Amino acid sequence: MIQKTEIYRNPFKFGEVVKGEDFADRKKEVKEIIEDVYNSVNIFLISPRRYGKTSLIMKVFEELSERNFIKIFIDFYTISDVNHLLQKLSSEIIKNSYKKLNLIMERIKDFFTSVKPLVKLTADGSFVLDFERIDKTMLIEEVLDLPGKVTEERRKRMVIVCDEFQEVRNFNGCNIEKIMRAKFQHHDRVSYIFMGSKERIMEEMVTLPESPFYNLGKIIYLDKIPIDEFKRFIWKKFTSTGFKVEESVIEKILDFTNNIPYYVQMFCYNLWNEKLWEKKISLSDIEDCVKKIVKQNESYFIEIWDNLTSYQRRVLIALANKEVDERIYSYSFIRRFNLKSISSLQKAVAAIIKKRILHNKKEEMKFTDPFLCYWIKSEFSL
Ligand SMILES: Nc1ncnc2c1ncn2[C@@H]1O[C@H](COP(=O)(O)OP(=O)(O)OP(=O)(O)O)[C@@H](O)[C@H]1O
Ligand SMILES: [Mg+2]
Repeated sequence: MIQKTEIYRNPFKFGEVVKGEDFADRKKEVKEIIEDVYNSVNIFLISPRRYGKTSLIMKVFEELSERNFIKIFIDFYTISDVNHLLQKLSSEIIKNSYKKLNLIMERIKDFFTSVKPLVKLTADGSFVLDFERIDKTMLIEEVLDLPGKVTEERRKRMVIVCDEFQEVRNFNGCNIEKIMRAKFQHHDRVSYIFMGSKERIMEEMVTLPESPFYNLGKIIYLDKIPIDEFKRFIWKKFTSTGFKVEESVIEKILDFTNNIPYYVQMFCYNLWNEKLWEKKISLSDIEDCVKKIVKQNESYFIEIWDNLTSYQRRVLIALANKEVDERIYSYSFIRRFNLKSISSLQKAVAAIIKKRILHNKKEEMKFTDPFLCYWIKSEFSL
C-alpha cells in the first residue's frame, strides 16, 4: 500500500518582517508600546541587530485601528539625505492621511504656505511630493510641522516610526536633528518611535544632555523572546508540519543560536529542510546542520576575517574559545590568550563592536552571529 504523505511548506521564516502565525509572543512589548502610543509618548526602541524590532513595530501597527491612527513608517537606511527625508516624510503623511485626490491638492495648498511642492505621479499609481529648487530652511520647517497640522485637522492620532534612526547622523550639511526636536516636542497627538540597532549611538541620542534628542522619549531595550515562549513556537512549527522533535533538541537550537530570533528561525529553517523526509530530528543532526550552514557561509566569514587586524583576530579567537564563566578583562584571560594588556584589549573590542561583529549586553560580550563564532572556534582552536 502506498503511504499517504502530506506536503508541507517550510514553516520557518527569516530575513524578512514576520507577521501573523510567523510572529512569536512579544505580547508584553506590544501592550506597552500601544499604551505609550495612545498617550503620545515618544519611544527609543533599541536592540542589537536581528532581535525583531521591525517585526514588533509592524505588529503594533496591525493592532492600532485605522479609524483612530495615521501610521507612518520611514526606514532611514533607504534615505540618502535631508531632501530625500523631507520628500519621503511629507509624501507618506499626506498619502496616509487623505484618500481623495482633490482633498490632497487642497490640503497641500493649506499646509505649504511658503513652499509649493510639485505632486508627481509614480509608476505604481501613487504619488510623491517633489521639492526641487525650493528654499531649504522654509521647506524643513513646513515639512516637520506637517504631523502637528495634519493630526489637528484630521482629529486623529499619528504614530511615526523612524527605523534605523541613527542614520540621521550621516545627513550632513544642516542641523536637522535640532529642528526635528524643536518641532516634534509640540506635536501632542503624535508619538514618535525611533528605532535602531547601533545601540551606543541610539542611547547617546536620548541620554546625553548635549544631544538634540535629550530626554525626548523613553527608552525600551528590546530583549530576546522568552525561552519558554520561543520553545512552544518552534515545537508547534515542527509538529504541525509532521515532525517529531524532543524538547532537548529545541533547547540545543536555542542554546546554539543564543536565542537570537533571526538565527533561531534560520537554523530551524535549515534543519527542517535537511530532515524533510525523515521528519525526525536528533541531537546529532544539530551539529551536522551547523557545520553545513558554516560551510555555506565560509566565503562571507573569510571576507570579514580579511578586514581585521591581526590583533583583532587574536581577540576574536580568544573570545570564541572563552569558557562561559571566564571574565574577558581578567588577568588570567589576557595571559591565557597572550593579549598584551587590558587597554589594548579594550581598544580592539571597541573597534570590533563598531564593525558589529560583537555586541555588549549586560556586561556580557557576545558574537552577533553564532555561526561566525563556531567558524572561528573550529578554524582557530587553541
Ligand atoms: N516575534 C518574532 N517571532 C518569530 N521570529 C521573529 C520574531 N521577531 C523576529 N523574528 C525573526 O528575526 C528576523 C529578523 O526580524 P526583524 O527584521 O524584525 O529584526 P530587526 O531587529 O528589525 O533586525 P535588523 O536589525 O536587521 O533591522 C525575522 O526575519 C524572523 O526570522
Ligand atoms: Mg529592522
